[in-house]
Amino acid sequence: MSAEKTSFYIPLSIIFVLLVSPNIQHSLGGDTLSWCQSLTGDQTLVSKEGHFELGFFSPGNSKKYYIGIWYKKVSPQTVIWVANREVPISNTSSAELKMTENGNLALSSSRLVWSTKSTSYPANSTVAVILDTGNLVLRNKSNSSAIIWQSFDHPTDTWVPGGGVGMNKITGEYQSLISWKNFEDPSPGPFIYTIDPSGLNQFLLQWNGIETYWSSGVWNGHAYSGIPGMDQSPYFVSNFTDNNERKQCTLTFNMKDAYTRGMLDSSGQAKQWLWTNDSQKWAVVGSQPADPCDIYSVCGTFWPLRQQQQKHFALAPKVFEPVSFYRMEPE
Ligand SMILES: *[C@@H]1O[C@H](CO)[C@@H](O)[C@H](O)[C@H]1NC(C)=O
Ligand SMILES: *[C@@H]1O[C@H](CO)[C@@H](O)[C@H](O)[C@H]1NC(C)=O
Ligand SMILES: *[C@@H]1O[C@H](CO)[C@@H](O)[C@H](O)[C@H]1NC(C)=O
Ligand SMILES: *[C@@H]1O[C@H](CO)[C@@H](O)[C@H](O)[C@H]1NC(C)=O
Ligand SMILES: *[C@@H]1O[C@H](CO)[C@@H](O)[C@H](O)[C@H]1NC(C)=O
Ligand SMILES: *[C@@H]1O[C@H](CO)[C@@H](O)[C@H](O)[C@H]1NC(C)=O
Repeated sequence: MSAEKTSFYIPLSIIFVLLVSPNIQHSLGGDTLSWCQSLTGDQTLVSKEGHFELGFFSPGNSKKYYIGIWYKKVSPQTVIWVANREVPISNTSSAELKMTENGNLALSSSRLVWSTKSTSYPANSTVAVILDTGNLVLRNKSNSSAIIWQSFDHPTDTWVPGGGVGMNKITGEYQSLISWKNFEDPSPGPFIYTIDPSGLNQFLLQWNGIETYWSSGVWNGHAYSGIPGMDQSPYFVSNFTDNNERKQCTLTFNMKDAYTRGMLDSSGQAKQWLWTNDSQKWAVVGSQPADPCDIYSVCGTFWPLRQQQQKHFALAPKVFEPVSFYRMEPE
């Protein structure tokens, strides 16, 4: 009798596990990583409305893996942010992105590879959430507006609406774009897109931190003097914010069923890209500097702040040149 009971209960518990496990798996397929949860192998988090996905990716044929954020609905995969850009992982099955005992988000394989800032928070008091803006936030679990850390404060080479390039006056940190080394290697290349460290309200492109090869010109209240026409598109509304906490440029994007991103590519050119649901493709809608020869490394000679001829935001979407693939490298 008791033996029968046992054999009855064991299958029941197996059924229970089978019914419950897909839910555990599914909760990882949500947008949030909580304490005791981890992301490994091909598991991902997906933002609420399904715009962005976070997980391991491998650029090109590199066979090296990084934690990144990419557009869920865009193919080929278009990465906007990389966590461990300098320290790749070779085996995602043995790597884990998880919430640590001290409330931080950390990536480890056999050792710690990458982590959010090391201030300690009580275990189980913080969560990591991927938002539909493409921002990964570490926040207080019981207060969604108490943000402790966010990927928008640590951009790699890409800027999306909602994020800003600039600086934080309180922490002294800069939010700058730094190019990838090449399309298969997200580690920092020689080019940077930064707010002018001298304090002027303008943005600079610099090579090796010394040579400025492009400048936006100073913000005049509605545009930058070196980017004529940028305030004429109803789709791309730029603003420059200067308050007690931050000094930064922001972008409001007003096109339905479309995405836009600004990217400093590994050739040193900053490009504004547009993807529409109709075209299912990325197209360049503006580039800085417009002439690649204004970039120090491309033509060998440095042309100090040559007169800029900007082809910019004022173009209508129908005249955009379609570009067939992402991260096209110069020939
Ligand atoms: C990757 O890690 C898993 C789990 O530790 C291990 O079973 C597998 O053999 C590893 N694969 C390679 C290619 O090293
Ligand atoms: C973590 O928080 C959840 C929900 O608030 C709670 O059910 C769980 O017991 C907590 N775990 C620990 C170890 O404190
Ligand atoms: C999180 O927010 C709750 C409610 O506002 C607060 O009581 C708690 O101290 C906060 N926790 C942390 C780690 O800031
Ligand atoms: C939630 O966090 C925000 C930002 O830190 C704070 O202003 C607000 O008072 C907090 N709300 C509660 C209920 O603690
Ligand atoms: C631009 O930013 C300023 C300062 O933050 C703000 O007062 C203004 O309303 C913003 N303009 C637009 C068009 O968003
Ligand atoms: C986006 O494009 C797909 C396929 O081209 C189409 O089925 C869908 O209706 C479009 N969505 C919107 C909101 O236009």
